[in-house]
Amino acid sequence: MQFTVAIDGPAAAGKGTISKAVAAHFAFAHLDTGLLYRAVGRRVLAGEDAVSAAADLAPEDLARDDLRNAQVAQAASKAAALPEVRAALVAFQRDFAARDGGAVLDGRDIGTVICPNAQVKLYVTASDIVRAERRYIELVARDSATTRAGVLADLKARDARDSERATAPLRPAPDAVVLDTSDMDIAAAVQAAIAVVEKARGDG
Ligand code: C5P
Repeated sequence: MQFTVAIDGPAAAGKGTISKAVAAHFAFAHLDTGLLYRAVGRRVLAGEDAVSAAADLAPEDLARDDLRNAQVAQAASKAAALPEVRAALVAFQRDFAARDGGAVLDGRDIGTVICPNAQVKLYVTASDIVRAERRYIELVARDSATTRAGVLADLKARDARDSERATAPLRPAPDAVVLDTSDMDIAAAVQAAIAVVEKARGDG
């Protein structure tokens, strides 16, 4: 059975947490597509060309534990604006989505470009301030020099680059269900997402 759940949205809106929980609930596979771009960004920071890094990404690149920092995030979003980088990553994402047993993919262009025929499309968002605070809490635990103002500025720069790029800009698909998590805790946001998937599957 093929069943694709596409979850898009800006940074730190909660889509990673929601995607993992939805995948676990339905026993679907999960792909965090941001990791692909982060892995490319990290290789660019190490001196490589973005397009060749995207063309030969290996599983080891995705398993590294240094992909979730602000510097890699910015490098990822710069590399992600290059059409050749995006093109090199399409087949892997589509193959993942087409696997038997159901798949959840989260990113920026899943419902619009990668899986326009996904059975469920969610666009998860939250206010800038709420997103920055969530990301601050996550980053300060690893680096005590992290500041709220710095995190907010980074998020805004990345959102602007992701939404304004010519290829696959961040935006909700016309048929996406928009989930604003600004005033929701994790459990409520996950429950809301599960309800959308259950409805699409014809459950209960
Ligand atoms: O989701 P995450 O914050 O890990 O993504 C890092 C960057 O990768 C984003 O800011 C965006 O530029 C890029 N990205 C993308 N398309 C996706 C997933 C991520 O352009 N499907």
